[in-house]
Amino acid sequence: MNTFKPLVFSGVQPTGNLHLGNYLGAIRKFVALQENNDCIYCVVDLHALTAQLVHDDMASQIRSITAAFLASGIDPKSHIVFNQSAVPQHAELAWIFNCVARIGWMNRMTQFKDKAGKDRENASLGLFAYPSLMAADILVYRATHVPVGDDQKQHLELARDIAMKFNMDFMEKIRASGYGVDITVGEEPVHAYFPMVEPLIDGPAPRVMSLKDGTKKMSKSDPSDLSRINLMDDAETIARKIRKAKTDPDALPSEVDGLKGRPEADNLVGIFAALADKTKAEVLGEFGGQQFSVFKPALIELAVDVLAPVNAEMRRLMADPGHIDAVLRDGGQRARERAEKTMKEVRDIIGFVQ
Ligand code: TRP
Repeated sequence: MNTFKPLVFSGVQPTGNLHLGNYLGAIRKFVALQENNDCIYCVVDLHALTAQLVHDDMASQIRSITAAFLASGIDPKSHIVFNQSAVPQHAELAWIFNCVARIGWMNRMTQFKDKAGKDRENASLGLFAYPSLMAADILVYRATHVPVGDDQKQHLELARDIAMKFNMDFMEKIRASGYGVDITVGEEPVHAYFPMVEPLIDGPAPRVMSLKDGTKKMSKSDPSDLSRINLMDDAETIARKIRKAKTDPDALPSEVDGLKGRPEADNLVGIFAALADKTKAEVLGEFGGQQFSVFKPALIELAVDVLAPVNAEMRRLMADPGHIDAVLRDGGQRARERAEKTMKEVRDIIGFVQ
């Protein structure tokens, strides 16, 4: 049976500074996936308009995410790095998906409810349709695997619902066109144009929590900069933030179970484990019984070791915006060619004259 060729796609919004949570949860995973996969990584600038229309620093935000990708080790020659607005086919497919998706599906999206808050009537239509554009981002390349955080799982389920409805509603036309692929969904054989995308959520990536409150996610919107480590922080700032990170008075436990009810200790041990590519149990094997006065300096040394080179390379790249723009232009052109191939077929399946 034919199946779709594996292809990894993911996107990061150019809003706010990237922090340790983004790095450990997303970017480091993007880097690792390059080894055995064809990968497309996108700075989703169209999505950045959904919550706020006017961004004075849009271009520098786009360049800064791109610089973070490159500094972390994403290879824009073997893979594709580009910004979403450079490939108008995303928006074109998103429109078609707006006509595939049902309002009822969108109404169930928890991220919309969170972001729109109480003043739903005043949220942009784009914010409501956000998941439809996200589905288009992925499916315009017929990508199969999407590394994302837990909070994006519902959007990926929606992307599958959209793909499935398109496949079903146009079944005869897809069959006649010869563009389809035989897949199985559950036990069912389906002749599909769009694949059922799979999230890549597992792996050692921890939920990185605020350094000031171990029960809250590390976030770029937290008013306290001490709550997060930014990718642009230098060694001294990283050290200061870890030194000031909230802890409790007890020594570290020797077993992972002992971290229960100690969110700050759990978070710092989790960050150490992720940075060192170890399990929490291994970290506690080394530091169990020790005070934070011993653990924190070790964490500082490790964090600086891992992040300082990324930081230095990001700064070097940001000093040469012309180079970053050239990388994006090249990626955009290669992405456009692939996206246009899909769109020609989609227009044909729908029956547009072209
Ligand atoms: N919604 C994603 C986020 O906020 C960003 C995103 C947009 C994305 N399009 C995507 C992620 C496509 C993966 C695939 O994290």
